[in-house]
Amino acid sequence: MSKEELISVANAMVAPGKGILAADESTGTIAKRLGSIDVPNTEDNRRDYRELLFRTAGIGDHISGVILFDETIRQTAADGMPLVKLLQDAGVIPGIKVDKGAKALPGAEGETVTEGLDGLRERLAEYYEIGARFAKWRATISITDDIPSTYALNANAHALARYAALCQEASIVPIVEPEVLMDGSHTAQRCQDVTEATLNALYDALAEQRVMLEGTILKPNMVVSGADCVDQAGVQEVAERTIECFKRTVPAAVPGICFLSGGQTEVEATEHLNAMNKIGGFPWELSFSYGRALQASTLKAWAGDAGNVDAAQKVFAHRSRMNGLARSGDYDASQEAA
Ligand code: 13P
Repeated sequence: MSKEELISVANAMVAPGKGILAADESTGTIAKRLGSIDVPNTEDNRRDYRELLFRTAGIGDHISGVILFDETIRQTAADGMPLVKLLQDAGVIPGIKVDKGAKALPGAEGETVTEGLDGLRERLAEYYEIGARFAKWRATISITDDIPSTYALNANAHALARYAALCQEASIVPIVEPEVLMDGSHTAQRCQDVTEATLNALYDALAEQRVMLEGTILKPNMVVSGADCVDQAGVQEVAERTIECFKRTVPAAVPGICFLSGGQTEVEATEHLNAMNKIGGFPWELSFSYGRALQASTLKAWAGDAGNVDAAQKVFAHRSRMNGLARSGDYDASQEAA
């Protein structure tokens, strides 16, 4: 493992004005996205859509890296150019989702643990050869009155740390993603408490498994109210709670925190990130690694029609630029119209 390489990639992933595009939807998840615009979930359609995103002029201005799915990292564009090379030529770092999904955790009703450790060392070596310089592993934590259990938090933290250690051995920067889900009617305070416990378990496990924090990126949820909570926390409250929670739990050695959007609208996700960076005064970069919040309007603008590619790329460039502005707290709603 080259320590310097890991640190330099991790820092490039959170370079000023930039963030990560999560385009690593599994075949099942992308089926839902394509279904929303009445496009059949074929290999060619998945390729055409991802190619549209990656060929956007100036993608590297505000996108530092893209998380890919196994199929995509091996795919070529319509003209035969590997999609990985398209990204590299645009100055964008290719990354790869390596987990195999959240599965039922035995003995823990309603809770999951993420699988995918078997054979991971060999898979990481192959992905490095193909060009991946970072990876992602997502654990999901659900909130009800009775869960999460300490058991589920520790099982997921242990798997995340096992994955992270294997990544670093393979000179791949691990994005560690413990996602506390928005589903439910819980308050923002409850989300904050659960997120704090989740991150404490995670950083204990990372330390125990000798992961070099300087060569990692954290991809967490923000502290928000449950989707069905009647009393929704506003933008400023979300920003303040999120910063308070992360200051208490995330070591200063971590170069950057790249939030997931988790079901927030595009504008909400941008506003929240902007509000946090306006407050400032924390030891890590606060950035984005959005899936839906970078793609929703682009997908709609494309609608599966080759004639819409230019228009859709403009929409994607705009959304990327808005989040690029939020990286320094320089976004405001008037820029949406520009
Ligand atoms: P969302 O931003 O749509 O939550 O996706 C990010 C991601 O990669 C979840 O694992």
